[in-house]
Amino acid sequence: MNISQTISSQLERASWIRRMFEEGARMKLERGPENVYDFTLGNPDVEPPAQVLEALSRVVAERRPRTHGYMPNPGFPAVRQAVASQLCRNTGLPFEADDIFMTVGSAGACNVILKSILDPGDEVIVLMPCFSEYPFYITNHAGRMVQVESGEDFLPDVERIAAAITPRTRAILLNTPNNPTGRIYPESVLRDLDAMLARLDHDVLVISDEPYKHIVFDGNHQPEVAALITNSVVCNSWSKSQGLPGERIGYLALSPRLQGRPQLRGACAFTNRILGFINAPAIWQLVELEAMDATVDVSGYQRKRDLLCDELARIGYDVRKPEGTFYVFMKTPLADDIAFVRLLAHEGVLGVPGAGFGRGGYMRLSLTVPEEMIRKSFAGFAAAFRTAC
Ligand SMILES: Cc1ncc(COP(=O)(O)O)c(C=O)c1O
Repeated sequence: MNISQTISSQLERASWIRRMFEEGARMKLERGPENVYDFTLGNPDVEPPAQVLEALSRVVAERRPRTHGYMPNPGFPAVRQAVASQLCRNTGLPFEADDIFMTVGSAGACNVILKSILDPGDEVIVLMPCFSEYPFYITNHAGRMVQVESGEDFLPDVERIAAAITPRTRAILLNTPNNPTGRIYPESVLRDLDAMLARLDHDVLVISDEPYKHIVFDGNHQPEVAALITNSVVCNSWSKSQGLPGERIGYLALSPRLQGRPQLRGACAFTNRILGFINAPAIWQLVELEAMDATVDVSGYQRKRDLLCDELARIGYDVRKPEGTFYVFMKTPLADDIAFVRLLAHEGVLGVPGAGFGRGGYMRLSLTVPEEMIRKSFAGFAAAFRTAC
């Protein structure tokens, strides 16, 4: 049986992280795993907070009747109410339980909202560089991705976004704190975006994908997008904030100020079901009912950020410290990022070329690695820099 042409061509385009992963596996066999410094994967290396693990033990031990059955597709009512109350406190907006859909991670939330609003050929604006899965999420639902370059500082350029809007534009997909750039979008930019959208003659939805909301450094805060942008929905998860991406638990929240909110409520309950998720994992909804405010200690990520960025800058790399997330997005000394990533791999250091995120001339390094490995990688970074310059 042949696979579809669509998937076949997507596999080609999706292959950067996979290629680097395969390259890493090959190199580890060849050189020994201790001699390969793999910065490719963003997989949290901090254990979930004790509060979360204790809640998990309690929920499992409780033997509460009907824990393991089907439930309303958007999730347990008590859990949705608790998320709504948390959002009310944080944003000052009157979120209700019916605005909340428990989802299979933030990825599930993005797919639920896109499926709910897109007809074939509808356009979704994405700010470049972007999370490498967004193009596929949009084509999953027959949408068309319209790429808008972020400014030099990697912040949204509201004029460029305005120029890209057409009558077919249905949504703008924002991600802050941003993977791969590590930027936090400031309140002023979000306000400008809201003012621009208010002047349009049709509604454009802002989808705010925020799984790194609590992975922020130096006392920074991610502004509440729902409080600043009228027509918005929030996609969030506990994958990064509690270090449990394998458990697949998150939510979609519809802003109380959203146009067409009653219809969208029905649509999202339905799409969560027909995408095959049915509902988010029951046990993890009940855990979050007790532990949703807990977050991992981000000081380890910040320490590793400083260690890596300070040394890279000392070597001569053009690198800016991320404000949040656990990624460093660094300029490559060669304009051809793929060539430089190969050169670095030759020295035993693996990263993902910027091309994988739609921005050549850069590469992404993940901080979810041991500090010791970062230290050992410095010689390889220095050798590759000397060769390139
Ligand atoms: C920007 C962005 N959105 C969504 C996701 C998926 O998050 P989740 O594991 O919560 O589905 C990721 C994961 O890396 C991400 O980087």
